[in-house]
Amino acid sequence: MFRLKVDEDIELELVNTFRTQEIYDVAMKNKERLEPWLLWVKSANIDNMNEFYEDMLKKYAKKRALCCFILYKGDFVGAVDISAKGGYGTKYGEIGYWLSGDYEKRGIMTKCVTKIIDLGFEHLDINSVVIRCASKNKNSCAIPKRLGFSLDGKIRGQLIVDNKEDTMHIWTLLRDEWRIKIK
Ligand SMILES: CC(C)(COP(=O)(O)OP(=O)(O)OC[C@H]1O[C@@H](n2cnc3c(N)ncnc32)[C@H](O)[C@@H]1OP(=O)(O)O)[C@@H](O)C(=O)NCCC(=O)NCCS
Repeated sequence: MFRLKVDEDIELELVNTFRTQEIYDVAMKNKERLEPWLLWVKSANIDNMNEFYEDMLKKYAKKRALCCFILYKGDFVGAVDISAKGGYGTKYGEIGYWLSGDYEKRGIMTKCVTKIIDLGFEHLDINSVVIRCASKNKNSCAIPKRLGFSLDGKIRGQLIVDNKEDTMHIWTLLRDEWRIKIK
């Protein structure tokens, strides 16, 4: 499969449907952790995961998205994607991610998000990058914060977490700000 090195241990593998069973198994092992934050987990099955990956591959061919599996020392540990959003004068990329609990707290996702931002700005026609996360999702919000995003918006009551309303935090990063950062 087509892979890109992030560092000595981490690789990004272009989305494919060869690993779906393995990914499904990891997602189900992490179901309880992931479900509050990721809507798809509750109804996930092999068929709808395959459909999603096929759709992401089509979008990749049209330069509208890049979805990658994360491999750590060759093992599947999570996924990261960036999707270009257009229409009504908008031109931004939205990032999503998840990691198996066994591999949290090693900086893996921060490195992979850094890589996907580089790739997004290089290959997708976007001016900025957006990460949306629930205010209660401290681990997720820490990633854009760590990477220098601005907290541009808070939408109150937009999410339900643990049966209670939560605020959606919208973190953004402009292409020019990223350029300055990586110089
Ligand atoms: C969101 C999620 C991917 C974050 O995982 P994470 O392990 O906290 O993130 P990273 O892999 O970037 O690791 C960062 C942690 O490793 C530490 N770390 C160690 N080495 C590091 C390095 N070289 N670079 C950055 N951080 C490093 C950091 O200090 C941080 O720990 P801290 O939060 O205790 O300070 C994970 O919690 C998850 O999958 N959650 C469920 C799904 C989800 O919420 N998805 C997002 C929906 S919006």
